Amino acid sequence: MFTKKIIYPPDFVWGAAASSYQIEGAWDENGKEESIWDRFCHTSGNIANNDSGDIACDHYHRYKEDVALMKELGLRAYRFSISWPRVLPRGRGNINKPGIDFYHHLIDELLGAGIEPWICLYHWDLPQSLQDEGGWANRDIVQHFASYTALIAREFGDRVKKWVVLNEPAVVAVFGHLQGIHAPGIKDVNAFLKVSHHLLLSQGKAIQVLRDINPNFEVGTALNLSPVYPISSNSEDQEAASRLDECWNRWYLDPLFKGEYPPFAEKMINPTKEDMDVIHQPLDFLGVNYYRRLLVAHDPTEPLIAARLVPRSAFVTEMGWEIYPDGMYEILMRLKEEYNDPVLYITENGAAFDDKVTRNGEIQDDDRIAFLRDHMVAVYRAMKEGARLRGYLAWSIMDNFEWAEGYVKRFGLVHVDYRTLKRTPKKSAHWYKQLITNNGFILP
Ligand code: FCB
Repeated sequence: MFTKKIIYPPDFVWGAAASSYQIEGAWDENGKEESIWDRFCHTSGNIANNDSGDIACDHYHRYKEDVALMKELGLRAYRFSISWPRVLPRGRGNINKPGIDFYHHLIDELLGAGIEPWICLYHWDLPQSLQDEGGWANRDIVQHFASYTALIAREFGDRVKKWVVLNEPAVVAVFGHLQGIHAPGIKDVNAFLKVSHHLLLSQGKAIQVLRDINPNFEVGTALNLSPVYPISSNSEDQEAASRLDECWNRWYLDPLFKGEYPPFAEKMINPTKEDMDVIHQPLDFLGVNYYRRLLVAHDPTEPLIAARLVPRSAFVTEMGWEIYPDGMYEILMRLKEEYNDPVLYITENGAAFDDKVTRNGEIQDDDRIAFLRDHMVAVYRAMKEGARLRGYLAWSIMDNFEWAEGYVKRFGLVHVDYRTLKRTPKKSAHWYKQLITNNGFILP
């Protein structure tokens, strides 16, 4: 169908991503206060090996070295997130100058290295003091998030053009408030419903705030999208798949792009027209985080949607996630066809593998290279068929704290030795550099 040589458009953006809690460490330094992830990790039993982001990759102190590595790889863009409690320790009110300064330095360092900084405003580390007032379940969060957004936009907007408002609201709502496996560890359908609505409202309001501050900003948000397949052709499984599709994909896409919830959510949330107008904002781009497809069976014991994920045993990553590059193509084409052909960036894509360091200190992660390449081919295919893809940010620049899984799961292009904090680019990092230099690759 295509030639063996895959070349991307000349202005295609190649980059990588990471997030504050996963790499920064310095959890209580220089005026930073607790986030919900600090609290969650410090509560024994929540995280594999009771790991925490207390030190993580120590990026807070080593950002210069990390930016130098990014430069060495030839990255054009880097998406990072702001730790809200680092800049506003209580979530509102007093500003923490050293926290603000850290991001000024990081941005300057990136620009000096020729790397475009992309700011993500929320990658899950809510200030604990806001959680104490109900967090995302309390509607006041909309105002707090708007004020925080305005602060960040005014501070950094002279040098930052690309804005990602939320990272994966579905994960915040489902993992954090329905299943309780992420901070703040709540399992409550009512909280889940409120949280998902307030996330969308906060997102809408923040988009307005950003545009008011600077109409030239490019504003987007990042959704974790997965095609959902029924495990069998029986109608119960098919209906379960369509419910999960509503809960996982459409719950965030439909309100944003069409101004309405899908039917299942609409019934439970029963939103006002005014709220839907705030949520329904024009976007400059949509960020797509893609990892896998979801296979689903009907299961009446599961809360809310009576659907259960069915694990796949063949072709999985260390996370147990099925390797399914076609899903990337399917999602991109669906966005084109059903959501009015938005401008798209891949804001995350990558894989955890059981990387082994060889005796001479190298990491031969050929499985990761194959994963990335196959997904990039899927992206290319979608672009050939008209999807308006503008760039690809790999997850992640380096190994980091993988939430409930702690440090066991490694997603990085760069290996991190957590005892010494030494960084070592993996074979995939060298491969990625080559790809960026050539703006493409030859299929083996
Ligand atoms: C995504 C998260 C990111 C990382 C990857 C593996 O859901 O946004 O922080 O954990 O998964």
